[in-house]
Amino acid sequence: MFDWLPHFGAFLNLLIIGLIVRAFVAIRAGDRELHPKLMKAAIVLGAIFLVSYVVQVSTIGHAEAPGDGLYKQVFLAILLTHTVTAVLVLPLILRAAYLGIQGRFADHAKIARFAFPVWLYVGVTGVIVYLMIYHL
Ligand code: HEM
Repeated sequence: MFDWLPHFGAFLNLLIIGLIVRAFVAIRAGDRELHPKLMKAAIVLGAIFLVSYVVQVSTIGHAEAPGDGLYKQVFLAILLTHTVTAVLVLPLILRAAYLGIQGRFADHAKIARFAFPVWLYVGVTGVIVYLMIYHL
């Protein structure tokens, strides 16, 4: 019944990657209206992803590490860095968004410059992990 959740999660991840890259491009082009709109949309999708992930783990559980030998080792290495950065990035994103909304842009930019590439890494490795389990 919940088999579709991993695919849904990967789809959300792809959307989030698209939104934050577009938001980054927007702010680099000086668009202070579009940037926060896209970042807020990414945060909402991230929250939906988190709920769907908790439901996924508590219903169908964790997938077994796929393959064997080198494939499995590469998978586990990516999964480890993905998991650690995923936990670390959440408070960074929330803090960056809070500072942005407060208009404290110098402080915002300091944290956001670090949070953005880490968030991107989490999204991309999330999709890679999904592909390695279900499609490769
Ligand atoms: C949700 C509310 C947000 C608002 C209102 C906001 C607003 C802004 C503004 C006005 C700037 C320009 C700062 C300056 O002039 O130096 C900026 C820069 C930036 N923001 Fe946001 N932002 C928000 C969320 C986020 C989030 C969640 C991230 C990523 C984690 C992010 C990543 C960035 C980055 C990477 C820059 C560019 C810093 C640079 O110039 O190198 N923003 N933001």
